[in-house]
Order: sequence, then C-alpha cells, then structure tokens
Amino acid sequence: MSATPWLLLLLCLAGAAGGGVLQARAQPDTKGFITIDCGLQGEAGYVDNVIMLAYTSDNGKLTDDAGTCHNISGEYITPSLGKSMHTVRSFAAGARNCYTLRSLVPGLKYLIRAKFMYGNYDGLNRLPVFDLHVGVNYWYTVNISSPGAAKSVEAIVVVPDDFTQVCLINTGAGTPFISGLDLRPLKKAIYPQVTNAQGLALLARFNFGPTDKTELIRYPDDPLDRFWFPWVNSVLWTEMSTTRKVSHLNPDLFEAPPAVLGTAIRPRNGSQIQFSWEPQPQPNDPSPAYFVIMYFTELQLLPSNALREFYINLNGELWFRDGVRPAYLYSGVNYNNFALRKNQYNITINATANSTLPPIINAVEVFSVIPTTNLVTDVGDVSAIMEIKAKYQVRANWIGDPCGPGTVMVWDSLTCSYAIASPPRIRRVDLSSRGLNGDISSSFANLKAIQYLNLSTNNLVGLIPDALSQLTSLTVLDLSGNRLSGSIPYGLLRRVQDGSLDLRYDEINPDLCTDGNSCQPDKRKSKLAMYIAIPAVVMVAIAVVALIVCFTRRKKQGSMNNSVKPQNEISYTSENYVYGDNSLRLENRRFTYEEIEVITNNFQKVLGQGGFGKVYNGYLEDGTQVAVKLRSDSSGQGFKEFVAEAQILTRIHHKNLVSMIGYGKDGEYMALVYEYMSEGTVQEHIEGSRYHGGCLPWKHRLRIALESAQGIEYLHKGCNPPLIHRDVKATNILLNERMEAKIADFGLSKAFNSDSDHVSTDTVVGTPGYVDPEYHATMQLTTKSDVYSFGVVLLELVTGQPVILREAVPIGIIQWARQRMAQGNIESVVDARMRGSYDVNSVWKVVEIALKCSAYVSTQRPTMTSVVVQLQECIELEEGCIVEDTGGSSDNPNWSYDAYLSDQSSNMNQKNDAFSMEHTGPAAR
Ligand SMILES: *[C@@H]1O[C@H](CO)[C@@H](O)[C@H](O)[C@H]1NC(C)=O
Ligand SMILES: *[C@@H]1O[C@H](CO)[C@@H](O)[C@H](O)[C@H]1NC(C)=O
Ligand SMILES: *[C@@H]1O[C@H](CO)[C@@H](O)[C@H](O)[C@H]1NC(C)=O
Ligand SMILES: *[C@@H]1O[C@H](CO)[C@@H](O)[C@H](O)[C@H]1NC(C)=O
Ligand SMILES: *[C@@H]1O[C@H](CO)[C@@H](O)[C@H](O)[C@H]1NC(C)=O
Ligand SMILES: *[C@@H]1O[C@H](CO)[C@@H](O)[C@H](O)[C@H]1NC(C)=O
Ligand SMILES: *[C@@H]1O[C@H](CO)[C@@H](O)[C@H](O)[C@H]1NC(C)=O
Repeated sequence: MSATPWLLLLLCLAGAAGGGVLQARAQPDTKGFITIDCGLQGEAGYVDNVIMLAYTSDNGKLTDDAGTCHNISGEYITPSLGKSMHTVRSFAAGARNCYTLRSLVPGLKYLIRAKFMYGNYDGLNRLPVFDLHVGVNYWYTVNISSPGAAKSVEAIVVVPDDFTQVCLINTGAGTPFISGLDLRPLKKAIYPQVTNAQGLALLARFNFGPTDKTELIRYPDDPLDRFWFPWVNSVLWTEMSTTRKVSHLNPDLFEAPPAVLGTAIRPRNGSQIQFSWEPQPQPNDPSPAYFVIMYFTELQLLPSNALREFYINLNGELWFRDGVRPAYLYSGVNYNNFALRKNQYNITINATANSTLPPIINAVEVFSVIPTTNLVTDVGDVSAIMEIKAKYQVRANWIGDPCGPGTVMVWDSLTCSYAIASPPRIRRVDLSSRGLNGDISSSFANLKAIQYLNLSTNNLVGLIPDALSQLTSLTVLDLSGNRLSGSIPYGLLRRVQDGSLDLRYDEINPDLCTDGNSCQPDKRKSKLAMYIAIPAVVMVAIAVVALIVCFTRRKKQGSMNNSVKPQNEISYTSENYVYGDNSLRLENRRFTYEEIEVITNNFQKVLGQGGFGKVYNGYLEDGTQVAVKLRSDSSGQGFKEFVAEAQILTRIHHKNLVSMIGYGKDGEYMALVYEYMSEGTVQEHIEGSRYHGGCLPWKHRLRIALESAQGIEYLHKGCNPPLIHRDVKATNILLNERMEAKIADFGLSKAFNSDSDHVSTDTVVGTPGYVDPEYHATMQLTTKSDVYSFGVVLLELVTGQPVILREAVPIGIIQWARQRMAQGNIESVVDARMRGSYDVNSVWKVVEIALKCSAYVSTQRPTMTSVVVQLQECIELEEGCIVEDTGGSSDNPNWSYDAYLSDQSSNMNQKNDAFSMEHTGPAAR
C-alpha cells in the first residue's frame, strides 16, 4: 500500500504541551456577524432568545428590492423550528437575484450560510431546484427534497472585496427562495485550504456521539457559529463523552468547539468505524474534489498499559502513514492539504495491531472544493455602472456582478472582457433605446476600459461630458437620437480628428438640414445624425480643431493688416453662429486675426482660386500645413451661408471627407481652415500631369473610387436627413500625401441653396457633364443625383478621358463609354496609358458599376452603400484577397480597431504641392 506523501498528517499528541493554550481562544465576538431573516416583514429585526443573535430583515440587502415575502404554511411550523425559517423571500422574476453583504474586510475568510425551508410557502407544493452563487462563483445547487426539510448550505471563502454577493440563480427548475442568510468572519489562519482561488462548500459537518442527540451545536458554543449536526448510530457505535474541558493546541487550524470535541464514538462491536459518501456533481464538475477534516480527542484517561491507536484508510488503502493516537483532552485533527478526487469516498478507521482499545472519532467535516477563480468585475467599473444603473433606473437583469460569471450571467447590454489573472472589465455598453432620461451621467467616464458606448435613441438632454474624451479605449460613441445641447467637447473632437473615436450624434439645427425634399420645418426636431469617423491627416492640427477663426472687423478688402477692432466674440458666437435652440454649437475657442495672419504668413501663398474665394497656404504653430480659404467680397455668399457651411464642416467628419480645422469671419471676410491635401485633386492625377508619361496605376484608381464612394455614402447614410453633395466630380476629390481620397466641398452648394436668395431655384446646380439629367429635368434632387455624378467620376478613373470629349461632336463620357461597351470592347474604354496592367474583371466590374450609377432613371441607379460594397469586391478581385476594412464606420462587432488605428498613424509631410479648393460650376456663384 503506497504511502501518500502529499497528505499531511497533523496529529496533535497529548502531553506536556499544555501551558497557555487556553488563552488561544478569544472571547466570542459577535462583531462582524450578519444574520438575515429573509422575507421578514414589517419588523426591523429581533433577537433570537435561544442563540442570542440579532436577526435583521432582508429589506435593503437585495439588489432592486427584488423578490416577494411569504410565510411558510402553518403545518410546517413546529416549536423547534427557528423563527427565522418561518418566512421566505422568493424570486419569481429574473434569472439572478442577489443579496449584497457589505462592510466586509477584503481578503478575509468568511463563512456564509444560506438556509432554506420551503414549507409550501406558495401553496403550490412544488419543490424547486436552483443554484447558489457566492460572488461570481458557483456555490451549490439547492435541491429541496421535501417541504418540511430545513436545509442549510454553507461555504467558506475569501472575500476579495469589501462586499460580497449571494445570488440565487433560476435554472428553470422552480422559483428560487431563501429563508435565511448568515455571514461570519473567520480568522485568517483557519481552514488553510481556503484560498483566493478556492473556497469550500460544506457537504457534511458531524458531531459524533452528542449528549443531546437532537440539538445541533452552533453559536455561542461555537464562536464561529458553524453548525455541528449530531450523528448518532446506537447500533454501530457507542457514545463517549467527558465533562472535562477539551483544549486546543496552539495554533489550531480548525478550532472545533469543546462541546463538539467533548463527545465521541467508538465501534460497538469490532474494531472499526466506517463512513462513506459519494461525490455530488456540480454543473461544471461531475466529480468535484473533497477535503476531509477529522477530529480526534481522547476522552478517557488511559492506564499506562493501554493504547488507543488506529489507522485511517480511504477506499481500503492506508491514508495516513502513522497510526493516530488521540491526545487526552486536547484537540487533534487529521485532514488533507490537497483536495482528493475519487469516484467514491469510503473512510475506515481501524485499530492497529498493537492497540488495546478501539478507535474513536469526535467529529468530521467534509467539504467540496468550489473554485473561486472567477473574479469580480473591476471595482471601478462596478461602482460606475452601479451609479449609471441607479441614475437611469435600469432594471433588466442588472443584478449581481456586471460581468459574470462567464458570459451567461453578464448584464444585458454589457460586454465584458475576461483575463486569467485580472478582473473582468466592461468593454461595451449598449443602452440604445432604453428610454434613458436626464443628462449623460459622468459615471460613464469612470468606465475606464470601455471601447463602445451606444446611448442612441434615448431622451438624454444637456451637455456632453468632456470627461468622456479621457476614455482612451473608447472607439465608438453613439449619442444620436437624443436631445443633447451645447458643444461637442473639445477633447472629443480631438479624438474624432485623430481618428481614434467614431462619434455619432445629432443635430437639431435646421440649417444643417440641407436636403430640400426631406426637410420639413415642423420636423426639424428630427435628427441629423452625425457620423464621425475621421482620422484626419493633420494629427497635430487637432490642437485647433473647431476653433473659430475670429477676424475682427475690417473695412477694406485686401488690406488684411488694417487695424483690428475687438469685439465681443462670445455673444457673437452664441447669438449669431447658433441656429436652433438646441443646436450643438461650434466650439468657441478661436484664432485671433493676428494668428490667422501668422498662419498664412500674411496671405502670402495662394494655393488656388474657387468660387468661394482664394485658398491660401498656411502653417499652424506646430508646423502643420493647412489650407485657408478666404471668402472674397465678390463671391456673393452671405454670412448665413458661410456659417451654414462652417457648421456642416464642423459636424460632418469622416475619413473620406476633407475636414475643417477652424473657421472665422469678420462680417465681410470669412475664412475656412482645412486640412492640407498635398496630392491635389483626383482630376490632376487622372490627367496624369504628375506622372511624366506614366499614369495613375489601376490599384490606386480603385482605392480612390472606393474611398470617395465611402465619403459620399457617409453623406447619404451617415447623415439624417441625408446630405446631398450636388457637386461630386474629380476636382472635388482631394488626395493627401498617402493618396487617401477625400471629398471636398460637400454640402456647400446645398447649404447655400437651402437658405439663400442668391441661388435661384430654377437653376440647376452642378458641373456640366456631371449633372443628373433627371434632376435637370425635374428639379427634384435626391441622393441618386450624387450617384449619377459619381458614376461619371468612375468612368473618368477607368478611361482617363475628360467628362466631355471634344470629338467631332462633343460627347459626354457616359455616352462615349456606352457606345464602346455596346461593341463589347472593354479595351477601347480603358485608359490606354495603364498598358494593360490591371485585372480585366475588376475593370469590367467598375465600368458596370459606373454605367449603373449613371442610368438615366434615378430609380435604376444603385445606392452608394451598394456601390461601396461592389467596389470592395472589385478591389478583392484586383488584389485577389480580402480587402481590409477601411470603413471605420461599420457596426461590425468584430472590433478591429487596433489595426484600424495603427493604419492612421501617419506623419504629416509638408509638401508644397498645389492645393485647390476651387468650387467651380454652380451657376449661382
Ligand atoms: C405572515 O404572518 C404574519 C403573522 O404571523 C402576518 O402579519 C403577515 O401578514 C403574514 N404575511 C403574509 C405575506 O401572509
Ligand atoms: C433533486 O433531487 C432529487 C431527489 O434526490 C433528484 O431525483 C433530482 O434529480 C434532483 N434534481 C436535480 C436538478 O439535481
Ligand atoms: C457483534 O459481533 C458479534 C461477533 O463478532 C456478532 O455476533 C454480532 O452480530 C455483532 N453485532 C453487531 C450489532 O454487529
Ligand atoms: C485496517 O483496514 C485496512 C483497510 O480495510 C486494512 O488494509 C488493514 O489491514 C486494517 N488494519 C488492521 C490492523 O486491521
Ligand atoms: C467501505 O469499506 C469497508 C471496508 O473496506 C467495506 O466493508 C464497506 O462495504 C465499504 N463501503 C462502501 C460503501 O463501499
Ligand atoms: C507494536 O509493538 C511492538 C512492541 O512494543 C513494536 O515493536 C511494534 O513496532 C509495534 N507496532 C506498531 C505497528 O507500532
Ligand atoms: C447604436 O444602437 C442602435 C440601435 O440598436 C443601432 O442602430 C446603432 O447602429 C448603434 N450604433 C453603433 C455605432 O453601433
């Protein structure tokens, strides 16, 4: 029989070790006890006159005051049944209901006990089965075996925080209920098997040979208030007891009370004591591991020639190598330090050959191991989400630990991340359409690990807390569908600008509603959802994002160095720039006139000339290159139009839309400051002037097509009501130094048109060759007009031809392409300068898309969303692989932000290539 070296024999021998051990026992200290009578109604509590412990009602200890109180049926109330078992609280609603036990000492061991007495409290006589969790860890499956049975379930665990929760889990086998709940603090050294990673669930705790054969021993006899149940078997065993006091050796790791150790049994017949049990399956462990603690104390003063010595065997094998010789009136304990995992446990205690006396045993405890490796959610996250829950009165299943255990119990609307050694963190919160009222809780900013926050479609009002910008992990923030006011905080805009945040919000500003067809004044409260997902190239320009470039009043055009008249910029901003009572204003940080002068170095270098005015080259203090567009007097564009555009540009952000860094006005002179697009217009690249005989490679053309399609799609789909660009063309698509395409001048003409008396509505706005014929014919503008124009751009990209070919009879590029395609000759359409270095299939497909886009009847044209999808397929064809998600706008739950973000980290390069913000075409300008 092999010895089991991993089992430690701790045998406390009798003898001289006596002095001072009595002092090891402290006086019972009830401080720290929590004793709850569940379902107790209308009473503050009471003191049980037998055990002299104060019971409190469970009011206020439950999350959301869940559950209902019941009396058990009178037929089950017997004189011996403790009062605390007379009432229950039951939980018909919710998969998980929890008691929160507070004011605990983190890291301390606690004994937690739940008590159950069904007593047909609901009159249904249906015995339920349900689970208990302690904290976020499985504890026990309560299986009520009879209505009159009082059941007690006990665990010893280390409580990691200053609170713990006891949760009743409805597993679909009946309504959970509970009669009582106790918590007792234990000393650190006691029950050494209990660690942070494992707790003990009590299977049995027996006091052998009790003098009173019915009563259990507990507090005050056991200062730790363990329940020691009597075990008597007068057929097999003879009881023994002593009236003398049994003492503990110091230290005693288990501290069984003298009342328990003062009684024992020995075999009535023969020389062995035997007991056994079978493992009780747990949900995740059909055969859990066990700890056994056996208490041996000699109760008889033995004559010198007598010997009581015995072996302890497990399943027929010697368990502890040495024979046990119990010490007279001193506690001795045998236990295993490492949990045993067997199919069955049969313990036999038999006398050794030399023993003259039969074996004895005083008490036994058997525990199964409950892993407590599920960690409670990060404390900061918990307190933040609890405050959010309280503020918005969120009910649902927001009970217990937010993240667990596991993904089964995680709160509705939350997604957590789990690591082995660190607490779960809340990563996603989707509280969209939950009827949230009031302002945005600042507690959201305390969810430090949050990546996704969706508060859309609620009734939230007030300001957006700037603190949200401190959430460095936050990549998606959806605030759309609320009635928020004030500005978008600078910090958030910054995050948006550097591409690290996808911000969606609303605008109740009617002037942003630029689609004449869908803009009903009385429906202005409808939202213009803003969708922001731009990694602006000008990372550093963030420093001035949304600043208002505030010129002071000047008299003369062209003499920018005139004297400056200070003015009240704040009222300017709040009164003049803001349309609509609830609109999100432009941030009113601003450049001074002098700063603008410095930025443009006295308007030294002109980059281009557009309908709106000249575009100047400029540098911010940190060296970031910008383009400053100045409104000229002759442009005829008024103040409102200017502000409208500025507002659109401030609010609409997408990585494929040119972003504005700031703007300013001085009444007559206005400026817009844009990110600098070093590679100029797509038009220039198609013409090939930069390629010295070569041309823009097909791959780049495809990429440009996709990116500009994404920008337009954003205008159509990311904005509500949709914004219609109305002037999509190759000169309005700009490229940055990484050849990323961005739509420029979006919404400009529309914004002007919607409000201006200068733009005659009987004039079709747009650029010849790009204008939707249906719009031209009907004056009915839809998003499909942009689709049409985009089809033209696609054809330009494929063919390299001008939009109107100067052939014998000038012919539009669409007509031209259709004619050639009708002959099935793709080669004759494709830009010959590419010299065949393209995938024919992808070119075919793009031409197909282009011709669909430019269908005469608008309803036959695809949406931009569909165009984006198809262009992505083209890229896949071309590259023969899956295109990476460059969208940033997707609701794709497969978060790939790391890849996404790293893709955005570029350095600003300071080329001085031509830059153009021209806005040609519209007849009105
Ligand atoms: C339970 O019994 C007490 C009296 O023993 C009574 O006051 C109380 O109303 C009962 N509660 C319910 C829910 O029946
Ligand atoms: C509950 O106990 C009964 C009787 O011991 C048993 O038949 C039943 O399978 C148990 N239910 C569960 C869910 O464990
Ligand atoms: C006790 O032992 C004797 C002899 O070994 C046997 O005859 C008797 O049945 C036993 N009694 C019990 C209760 O086991
Ligand atoms: C005690 O019981 C074990 C297991 O049944 C057995 O192997 C051993 O021989 C017994 N010892 C004595 C002294 O009877
Ligand atoms: C336990 O072991 C003893 C002795 O080895 C044996 O007599 C008894 O039948 C066993 N009990 C069970 C339940 O296996
Ligand atoms: C039994 O006693 C004899 C004589 O005292 C001793 O030699 C022997 O080692 C003892 N056996 C055991 C198992 O303790
Ligand atoms: C926010 O939730 C709404 C409603 O479920 C959904 O339509 C929207 O796409 C979500 N926003 C984001 C950014 O996922």
